[in-house]
Amino acid sequence: MTFKGNTTRIAFLFPTFSIKGHGYILRTFQKDGGNYSESVHTSLADELGADFVEEYNTWEQHDSVQSDHPIENLPFTVGRPSSSEGTLIREMQKTIWASDDDGLYPSDIHSDKFNLPTSLVARVDGVPVGFLFGFYRIACNKSLENLLGEKRISIESQLMGILPGNEKRGIGYNLKMHQAEIARELRIDVIHWTVDPLQIANAILNFNKLGAFACSFYPNYYSFRNELNQVPASRFEIAWLVSRRVKSNNMQIGPWTEPRLPELSDYSSDMQVLLQEDLSKSQQLTKSVVAVEIPVDWVGLQKKNIALANHWRLYTDRIFQTYLGFEEDQYVVTRVARNKKRYFLLMFKSGIVTRAIESASRIV
Ligand SMILES: CC(C)(COP(=O)(O)OP(=O)(O)OC[C@H]1O[C@@H](n2cnc3c(N)ncnc32)[C@H](O)[C@@H]1OP(=O)(O)O)[C@@H](O)C(=O)NCCC(=O)NCCS
Repeated sequence: MTFKGNTTRIAFLFPTFSIKGHGYILRTFQKDGGNYSESVHTSLADELGADFVEEYNTWEQHDSVQSDHPIENLPFTVGRPSSSEGTLIREMQKTIWASDDDGLYPSDIHSDKFNLPTSLVARVDGVPVGFLFGFYRIACNKSLENLLGEKRISIESQLMGILPGNEKRGIGYNLKMHQAEIARELRIDVIHWTVDPLQIANAILNFNKLGAFACSFYPNYYSFRNELNQVPASRFEIAWLVSRRVKSNNMQIGPWTEPRLPELSDYSSDMQVLLQEDLSKSQQLTKSVVAVEIPVDWVGLQKKNIALANHWRLYTDRIFQTYLGFEEDQYVVTRVARNKKRYFLLMFKSGIVTRAIESASRIV
């Protein structure tokens, strides 16, 4: 950290929010317990234009009080992790992503003092089988901020994982719905996260079940490689408006649940369909809806045919990089549809999505 021109120690600043207002947590690593003085915190807060800066020394003992909420008619519960479950979250991350230890998030971030806006586990018979956590974020996506009309605090949802053998039981969906409920209690309207655009399970969950949308794109966003990411790790930026709902002309935004996976034929006749074999051709997209084919099994494809996986990544990257956004000729991804055994991401012209958001009703 540089303070008054001198490099002193390494520390990280995390946006936070509490009854004291909008501030930062100063995450320090002082084994000897030598924390910064109050005057340093105050000067830093002034420099950052924040209401306060609160120090959090990782070497101190930080506890968390667990909570547990049943989910109606389902055999699992969700709630805040205890201190020992914080450690299990790290182990679950390692199992699900086969990540190196260096790529694992520290377990103490789930403590009460670190004050994450989302820190949740799902338990079956009291044992964690999945998790979801996220950080405060100072602003939301710029174009969305313009559309919603004010600068606001949002949540950057960092990671969600369900242990193998427990997927497809509604755990991921219920963790996200619980996250949305907590966000509304915190008066936060938008939750963001990033996701690989070619993962079908995530796409159906994010777009069709949660009613989130993708309005920005980052090619080759992460440098890491692991079991789920063997080619450049490109990402959609997802936005989820948790306190608004829209349903009009096949456009559903906000926490809605699509009762079934729609067919491509359910959508507008003014639609352009890009099959996998068309992706490498030069494309000029002008229709109101564009359907982009994505693989049925992206993880399997990366293992079986890395050349084809790279090809698919390269050409979908080009499309999303050029066309995703809220500018006039751009598109926003809001749905997955199916045609026989093939899956498609549906991109709607941004004006259609903008009008839908503007007409949204609020969820209290
Ligand atoms: C993606 C993931 C979090 C989903 O969690 P989950 O608990 O299996 O999801 P749910 O059971 O709540 O499923 C919600 C919906 O997503 C869809 N879905 C989930 N898995 C699917 C799959 N393998 N194929 C097709 N659709 C799928 C379904 O529509 C499902 O709803 P339905 O069963 O009512 O039709 C989980 O598979 C996982 O941990 N994946 C690896 C890590 C990861 O990708 N994390 C997310 C990015 S950080």
